[in-house]
Amino acid sequence: MKLFDVYPLFDIVPVKAEGSYIWDEKGVKYLDLYGGHAVISVGHSHPYYVKKITDQLNKIGFYSNSVKIPMQEELAQKLGELSGYTDYNLFLCNSGAEANENALKVASFHNGRKKIISFSKSFHGRTSLAVAATDDASIVAPVNQTDNIIFLPFNDEQALEAVMQQYEVCAVIVEGIQGVGGVMIPTTSFLQKIKQVCEKAGALLILDEVQSGYGRSGKFFAHQYAGIQPDIITIAKGMGNGFPVAGVLIHPSIKAKHSMLGTTFGGNYLACAAAIAVLDIIKKENLIDNALKIGTYFMEKLKGIDGIKEIRGLGLMIGVELDQPCADIRKQLLTEYKMFLGSSSNKNTIRILPALTLTKEEADLFLQAFGKVLAERLVK
Ligand SMILES: Cc1ncc(COP(=O)(O)O)c(C=O)c1O
Repeated sequence: MKLFDVYPLFDIVPVKAEGSYIWDEKGVKYLDLYGGHAVISVGHSHPYYVKKITDQLNKIGFYSNSVKIPMQEELAQKLGELSGYTDYNLFLCNSGAEANENALKVASFHNGRKKIISFSKSFHGRTSLAVAATDDASIVAPVNQTDNIIFLPFNDEQALEAVMQQYEVCAVIVEGIQGVGGVMIPTTSFLQKIKQVCEKAGALLILDEVQSGYGRSGKFFAHQYAGIQPDIITIAKGMGNGFPVAGVLIHPSIKAKHSMLGTTFGGNYLACAAAIAVLDIIKKENLIDNALKIGTYFMEKLKGIDGIKEIRGLGLMIGVELDQPCADIRKQLLTEYKMFLGSSSNKNTIRILPALTLTKEEADLFLQAFGKVLAERLVK
């Protein structure tokens, strides 16, 4: 059997990782400023994280959600405390798409409605309704197409108000910061407007914090910059530092019913061990503060580099837009300077999504290399 060939691959075989570094099979060391797509939050192979999962595996690795798993309660309690959402309820699942899929279902179960508002350049995952709510026709299969999704221009308050009056809307789904779309930040006023019109219309506000959450933005959730409280929040990526785990945070006014949602693997012992370890490390090592501090430093220094059109970001979720496609530049940084970086649907934007443990020295390594690579191109 061969692999179903859906991923364009770099010719690199990582065999070891530690903190912000990865080593390949030939012993070459890479600086990881991509975190495997914003997944690595507490750094690769953090000893406390490794021990928690290993110890758990030596006790019990899996049983289904038909028995009591107290670690799920511990996870919910620690997540509530660190995020500030102590009174919300948590549903555990396995991926970002699944979290959004369930969030949309919960909203529709709650108010009995069907119409979902999503925004231009959004990405919410690749499963049925999540992909339908994603603004990329090339990944939506005919069977996923539905009239229930209405796309509106991002950050356009007037368009939103008009559509809210026209339809009985079930939910509005928006990313805390658009990731795949190229690090596009919703304005405070836009998020506050969404909250206001949803409340007025009995629609639910779903904040997709799959990429922008878990401290990456310098607050636990990016939407907390706007001082709003969504009805539902989805989380994944940084939550397990690579172990597949995701969640849906649900406002206490939304009531659960047995069998309303479910999953075989969601909230299993190993996923809980990984997710608890991540929260413990974020708290103990003040990683949210570090993300803010290093991210601010990073963006300040980027301003001094010639050849950059725009810098967008909060904390350690940074988009650097060039006035040229960035594929070759990313490739050069990988092959010559041994640095992993992310791309985005906007071909000119590089995404910087490192571990929240990134140091100033590690940021400087990139800044020097990036300055050189762009300078060479300006001379040519
Ligand atoms: C904002 C956002 N939502 C959802 C997803 C989907 O997550 P997953 O790939 O875990 O299904 C992603 C993945 O990139 C994402 O960035």
